[in-house]
Amino acid sequence: MVAQEEFDPAAMTDEVNEGIGRIREASDLEELKAIKAKYAGTGSALAGSGRIIGRLPADQKKTAGRLAGKLKADFGRAYGLKERQLRQEEESRRLAAEQVDMTLPVNRRPQGARHPLSKLMEDVEDFFVSMGWSIAQGPELEAEWYNFDALNFGPDHPARQMQDTFYVKGSQARDAAGFVGSNMVMRTHTSPDQARSLITRGVPLYVACTGRVFRTDELDATHTPVFHQCEAIAVDEHLTMADLKGTLDKLAVAMFGPEARTRLRPSYFPFTEPSAEMDLWFPDKKGGPGWIEWGGCGMVNPNVLRSAGVDPQRYSGFAFGVGMERTLLLRHDINDMHDLVEGDVRFSQQFEMGE
Ligand code: DAH
Repeated sequence: MVAQEEFDPAAMTDEVNEGIGRIREASDLEELKAIKAKYAGTGSALAGSGRIIGRLPADQKKTAGRLAGKLKADFGRAYGLKERQLRQEEESRRLAAEQVDMTLPVNRRPQGARHPLSKLMEDVEDFFVSMGWSIAQGPELEAEWYNFDALNFGPDHPARQMQDTFYVKGSQARDAAGFVGSNMVMRTHTSPDQARSLITRGVPLYVACTGRVFRTDELDATHTPVFHQCEAIAVDEHLTMADLKGTLDKLAVAMFGPEARTRLRPSYFPFTEPSAEMDLWFPDKKGGPGWIEWGGCGMVNPNVLRSAGVDPQRYSGFAFGVGMERTLLLRHDINDMHDLVEGDVRFSQQFEMGE
């Protein structure tokens, strides 16, 4: 004989109510599903009720069926309610997690840094502008005439020779000032702007020019074939070497601080007469403070004034040129030119600190 399963309404009601109680306390969908499996899945009183009720005598079937139906509906309702609630909670949690906080700092792409040389040239230009001078910018591909002839370099001057100068074949000067018919060179210095400024701007003249210059040098710790200079020229009535010295000292202080001074040593340049090498007093020089060469200068040669159509009887002037790389090396104690030309952004970034 097969054992008769009994229909026990009280036990079934208890079991379903227990299930409903656990449903109400469920904290996530996973747990909810497990409760459903236990209280309404295979082996549960609810799942087995249909089979048992089917075997009951007709007079008991109806009440038993009604009770089972009600318990199923109660269980289903409690389950549906809880499921909706848990889904909503899960959705809000997900939305909160995905929320974008507009006030958070963004993860920027790495930033570059300006090259210290560009900044130095701006500082130098600011210095001249603060004294009321103008800033000029000459061409890098320059007429040989401006680079040499107008500056009183004789036709056989050694500086013209190929080992120093990049000559550019097949090009002829066609200049804003109307000059045509010279060979072209990559300018070997910024001094051609002396003649250019005199011709295009006339006198009185107070002009500075910073820019790139080119020489056939190999790159090593102290040389590079492309480097930067600043040229300054002042032409007016009654200018003397005292004005030159005063301007140089002011520039030295602007670049190197209040203790900086300059001194002049007699020298020779074709475009100035008299000419001088200019030294800078350098407190941080290796092996103790001392003088260190910084640039060249002098009184504008009357021949330069004449070649620009300016009367040297009435006007006089001074000029000087300093190397920008050299200024930067001295100012920041950099020992190798390679650092300046290699373009490693970490090098430039060091100069941005504290700005
Ligand atoms: N042009 C010269 C050079 O490249 C520097 C220089 C010397 C400029 C004397 C001047 C000057 O204006 O008067 O070496």
